[in-house]
Amino acid sequence: MTTNTYAVEGRTVIITGAGSGMGREIARGFLDNGARVVAAGRRLEPLEETISGAAPERAVAITADVSDRGSVDRLVAETVGHFGGIDVIVSNAAIYIGGELADLPEDQWRSEFAVNVDGLYHLVAAASDHLVASKGSVTAISSVSGLAGDWGQAAYNASKHAVNGLIRSLALDYGDRGVRFNAVAPAFTATDMTSGIWKDEDNLGPFLNRIALGRVGRPGDVVGPVLFLSTDDASYITGSILTVDGGTSASTGQPHA
Ligand SMILES: NC(=O)c1ccc[n+]([C@@H]2O[C@H](COP(=O)([O-])OP(=O)(O)OC[C@H]3O[C@@H](n4cnc5c(N)ncnc54)[C@H](O)[C@@H]3O)[C@@H](O)[C@H]2O)c1
Repeated sequence: MTTNTYAVEGRTVIITGAGSGMGREIARGFLDNGARVVAAGRRLEPLEETISGAAPERAVAITADVSDRGSVDRLVAETVGHFGGIDVIVSNAAIYIGGELADLPEDQWRSEFAVNVDGLYHLVAAASDHLVASKGSVTAISSVSGLAGDWGQAAYNASKHAVNGLIRSLALDYGDRGVRFNAVAPAFTATDMTSGIWKDEDNLGPFLNRIALGRVGRPGDVVGPVLFLSTDDASYITGSILTVDGGTSASTGQPHA
C-alpha cells in the first residue's frame, strides 16, 4: 500500500513482469490508487495473485512474453478490448544474466537483449497509436546499471544502457504528440532477481557500504516514483532517468571513508 495518493484513477495501465518483485508492488500501487490494471507476464498464476481481491472491471491478468512481438500485440489488443484504451505502460519485465563477456554464450547475450530491450521496443511499437490517442506515458524500470558499469555484468549493463537511450530517444520523437517517456533506475533491491545474494546476509556488506541510506532497496521503493511519473503532476517530465537507489549512484565509486 502506498502512503500517498496519486491521481491515476481510471487510467488503464499495463505492467509487465507483474507477477513478482517490483512489478507486483507497482501493480498493487496502481490498484490502490484507482487505476485499471493489466498485470502482464509469462505465467498466469502469479499474475492472478497480484490482482487477487480486485474487481474484474478494475484488473485483469494477461499472459505475454515481452520478447515476442506477436505476444505483445495480443497483450495490447486484449487490453484495448477489455478497457478500451491504454494510458500508461510500465515496462518492468527483465532478466539478469551475469558473467564476463567472453564466457557468455551468444544465446544468453541475445536473450538479455530480447527481454530487456526488445521488450520495451515491442510494447511501444504495438501500443504507439493508443498512447498517442490518450497522450499517455511510458515508464521503464531501468537500473543504475544503465548509468555506469558493474563488474561481471556486461550483458545486463549494456541492455540497461540501451533502455535508457531508447527512453530518451522516444521522449524526443513523441514529445510533439504529448506522450511522455521516463525511466526509474533502482539499485540493488531484494527481489527474486537478487535472491542468490541477499538471502545470505553475509553477502550484503559490500553493497551496504556503497548505499548512502544504509539499506538495500525494497520492491515497494519504486512504487511512489512510478505512480508520480504517471500523473499529470509529472506532465513536464519526459526523457528523465530517475534514480531510486538510496544514493548508490551519488558516489564517485571511491571507498567509504
Ligand atoms: N532487483 C534488483 O536489484 C534490481 C535493480 C535494478 C533494477 N532492477 C530491475 O527491476 C525490474 C524488476 O525486477 P525485480 O527485481 O522485481 O525482479 P523479478 O525477477 O522479480 O521481476 C522480473 C519479472 O519479469 C518477468 N519476466 C522475465 N522475462 C519475461 C518475459 N520474457 N516476458 C514477460 N515477463 C518476463 C519475470 O517473470 C518477473 O516477474 C527489472 O527491470 C530489473 O532489471 C532490479
